[in-house]
Parts: sequence; C-alpha cells; structure tokens
Amino acid sequence: MKKSVLKLLLEHQHAYISGEEISRIIGVSRTAVWKHINALKKEGYVIDSVHSQGYRLLSKPDIITTEELQINLLGDFICDIHIYEELSSTNEVAKKFAAEGAPEGTIVFADKQTKGRGRMGRLWDSKAGIGIWLSLVLRPSIMPAQAAQLTFVSAVVVCQAVRDFTGLEAGIKWPNDVMIKGKKICGILTELSAEIDRINYCVAGIGLNVNHQLGDFSTDIVDKATSLMLASGTPYRRLELLVSILTLYDRIYREYREKGFSYILEQWKKLNCTLGHEVKVISQEEVYFGTAIDIDADGQLMVKIPEGEVRYVIVGDVSIRYVQ
Ligand code: BTN
Repeated sequence: MKKSVLKLLLEHQHAYISGEEISRIIGVSRTAVWKHINALKKEGYVIDSVHSQGYRLLSKPDIITTEELQINLLGDFICDIHIYEELSSTNEVAKKFAAEGAPEGTIVFADKQTKGRGRMGRLWDSKAGIGIWLSLVLRPSIMPAQAAQLTFVSAVVVCQAVRDFTGLEAGIKWPNDVMIKGKKICGILTELSAEIDRINYCVAGIGLNVNHQLGDFSTDIVDKATSLMLASGTPYRRLELLVSILTLYDRIYREYREKGFSYILEQWKKLNCTLGHEVKVISQEEVYFGTAIDIDADGQLMVKIPEGEVRYVIVGDVSIRYVQ
C-alpha cells in the first residue's frame, strides 16, 4: 500500500494530488493514505501538503527502499529484494540465502557493511550511505571452471551503467576493476559454491563508490580510489544508479546466456583500459613486467614480456599494476 502511495506521488511530482484521489485510486481510506504519507515522511521523503489541494512530493532521500526499487525495476529478473541498514557483508548473506535455495535474481543490499570483503582476503571499506554495496545470486548453467566469466559480466555491466548514468569515462582494468582516470571506483568479488561438474550458485558482489569525499578513504587507498562524486563534482542519488545497474544486469546477463562468453569479451574489450598498457604482474611465485596485448577466449590476460614471449595471466591468481 505504501508502495502504491509512493508510486502516485512519483507520478504526480509536477502537481498536487488530493488524499481523496489517492484513496479512490488505491482503494483505501483517507486515514490509511495519511498514515502512509507520514511513514514516507519519516523515511525522509519531503512531501508538501496543502489544504484543499492535497500532497506533492518535493524531494526524495538518498535511501534504497524495496518499494522504490520495485516501482522502477521493469521485468522479473530481480525477483527477491533484501535491504539492510547494516550487515557484515552482503556476499556472506547472499551466500546464506542461496544455500537455502534463494532463486537467481535475489539481491542483497546494505547501506553499510562492517566486514565488507574484497578480493585476495582484503577488506572492502563500506561506509554508510555513500556506496552501492550489493550482492546478486546467480545460478548459471556453466561449468565451475568457467565461473570467472561472471566477473567479466559484472564488470561490463557496472562500467557501462556508470558511463550511461554519469557520462563519466569509466573503463575496466583487467579483469574486473572499474576505473576512472586511473583510480578505482568499483570492485567485484564473485564467489561460488560448486561440485566438480556443476555450479550450485554464484554470488556476484559489487562495491561501487558513489558519494565519497576524499576523507572517506583510508590513507592506504586514498591515492588509488575515487568515487563518482569526486570524479564529477556531482552527488548521485544511489537508487536511480542501482536501478540502471540492475536493469543492465538483466539485459547483459541474458545476452551472455544466449550468445555466450564471446559476446561479453567483445563488450569488455570496448570498455577496457588495460590493453596496450605496460603492466606489472604480481603472482605468488613471481613479479614481471610486460605489455598487455589482448585477452584470450577464456578471459586470460596476454602479456608480452620484453624477451618476446607471451604469458597468459589467469583470473584470480594475480594482480596487475599499470607501469607509469
Ligand atoms: C575487490 O577487492 O576489488 C572486490 C570488492 C568487492 C566489494 C563488494 S561490496 C558488496 C559485496 N559484499 C562484500 O563483502 N564484498 C562485495
């Protein structure tokens, strides 16, 4: 019911809509309408009420609510929405839901994470109210060895959504960091539960820095990380950005299932900011330098070392740095 009231207010932002009309359209009493309006006001929606004219939505808070997501999301890919003010890690909770049978398209969003997880055992700083800390349950029909493909899917989605939504020139650093002007704005952590020959479920974790100021980054990453607001000078309402990401996820994941990984690689190559660059490859065994020349059909980075040999870098085993 609250969702229906909000939907009407969103549709009538240019003019007042009377309590009587809302109650007639939704089929509830005027007292119920008034209660829902008050609940929305408590959440931070600024709603003007003028006697004899009705209600008008003046501004929306930067919060993510199930109601507003449902109003804005078309299609049925996102089927189950779990939103929390605070969690340890959305990946942890999404894995728990997935293990209990949550369907593909279940999402977990947290305003703040206390133990946000990054790749290679690192922590992911996830302060309240300024980022998109999101996990998506996927159940792809691929072999466990192909699961890294999903990190490319997520990177293509976030990079393209950021470009479309902000106009900023985001690019993908192999395999899946989204960057703006050499600084990281988004990290992706894909986790899976699998048998030898089949995937039970995957969780695609996305951490996108949206409205951070410089002081929100710890000293060890402040030179390497940025946010959309720092990059553009404009704050963004996270709900609309999240809707863009989820809408694009639906489309690109469908194309991936229909056309295969080669389609994702094509998109990745269009968006990447790695190929053609000098890189430093850091694995557990060795560190070497070379030029990133291409990625192969499995998503491995092809690095040509000065001696002429081309080495294949496997997703997940190493990190690469650009050499200035
Ligand atoms: C990286 O190290 O680059 C990956 C960072 C991934 C962070 C996201 S935030 C939402 C999801 N939940 C987590 O605990 N981690 C991922």
